[in-house]
Amino acid sequence: MKNLLTLLLLMATTITWAQKFENLASTPPMGWNSWNKIACDVNEKVIREAADALVASGMKDAGYTYIVIDDCWHGERDSLGFIQSDPVHFPSGIKALADYVHSKGLKFGIYSCAGNKTCAGRPGSRGYEYQDALQYAKWGVDYLKYDWCFTDGLNAEGAYTTMRDALYAAGRPVVFSLCEWGNNKPWLWGAKVGHLWRTTGDIAAKFEGSVDHGTWSSWGVLKILDMQEGLRQYAGPGHWNDPDMMEIGNGMTVNQDRAHMSMWCMLAAPLMAGNDLTNMTKETIEILTNKDLIAVDQDPLGIQGFKFAAKDSMETWFKPLANGDWAVCFLNRAKKPVSIEFDWKAERVNDDLSKRDLNAAQTEYELVNLWTKAASGTTGAALKAVVPGHDVLMLRLILK
Ligand code: GLA
Repeated sequence: MKNLLTLLLLMATTITWAQKFENLASTPPMGWNSWNKIACDVNEKVIREAADALVASGMKDAGYTYIVIDDCWHGERDSLGFIQSDPVHFPSGIKALADYVHSKGLKFGIYSCAGNKTCAGRPGSRGYEYQDALQYAKWGVDYLKYDWCFTDGLNAEGAYTTMRDALYAAGRPVVFSLCEWGNNKPWLWGAKVGHLWRTTGDIAAKFEGSVDHGTWSSWGVLKILDMQEGLRQYAGPGHWNDPDMMEIGNGMTVNQDRAHMSMWCMLAAPLMAGNDLTNMTKETIEILTNKDLIAVDQDPLGIQGFKFAAKDSMETWFKPLANGDWAVCFLNRAKKPVSIEFDWKAERVNDDLSKRDLNAAQTEYELVNLWTKAASGTTGAALKAVVPGHDVLMLRLILK
């Protein structure tokens, strides 16, 4: 009898603990991550400067909150097995860095990997999950990106669940970012494990095509966008599809950067900037801090947008927003400008997933251009416009 009671108690404890931290990502997380621009050249000075620049550039005010160190911060484990930071590049230690980031009113994130090693060959968390989670809690970590290299023989859902439980047991609320590249369909099980899951392999700083790295490829913006097909039903408040960190400011044209930002917002994607925040052009700052775009991404309904139509190089995307509003984005995938005409009253936009219906023949909406900020008439008249190459026309339809 006593044994049975003990067993029941253990089971109850496990059930209570088997959860992620709730209410941490009711809208898609926003911040900055070191990987896309800095990769393994990361150090504490770079992270401090990124935190300073996030504030000084206005990005913090626009909603960017998390400063995340990606791969290459790890040193060795100490004699008890606790992970330490690389003493050369992080001489003050991670706790001091987290304190600095927190002192700026920001949140602090870190990276590890479910395998024996991280993708860059640093110590992974396999077999050390609970100990690593304790260390992160002690340091003041608010966000963990958890990668999938060197994971031979591991079951993805199981491995990510182990880390989820370890984080929960450590007691400090942490946004848990599953970086498993979509290999094991994390959209099917990720919502109960973490707050966001990568849907694809790595992004590259290019609009079209991919980059061949020999054993793997990274993907341009359009390829990543195409890989989101069929996934919108799995995203929502607290659990997001993650098409990877942004490449805005990393060498694409202003038009391409604008299209990239627009599509990530239409997808309700996490907005993790991946550029050098200490050296941004005016255009890069404007794109990253466009509050009307960010409002589309961060809309409280948390409904991922969808492709309504595609004709030649032109795609038309819609996203239902709170209070009866909609966002619409005309994406020109070609290099040449394309003329468009959209007769709101003749088109009927039905969204089975959200049960929302855009019927402009019955209901009139005001139109605002979210990039130029210009009032652009109403849905009473057909829209006629030219969309520049590799760019968008993005509007908010406001219920009158
Ligand atoms: C993987 C991830 C990237 C980055 C690197 C670090 O490729 O997908 O986002 O974290 O590892 O090595």
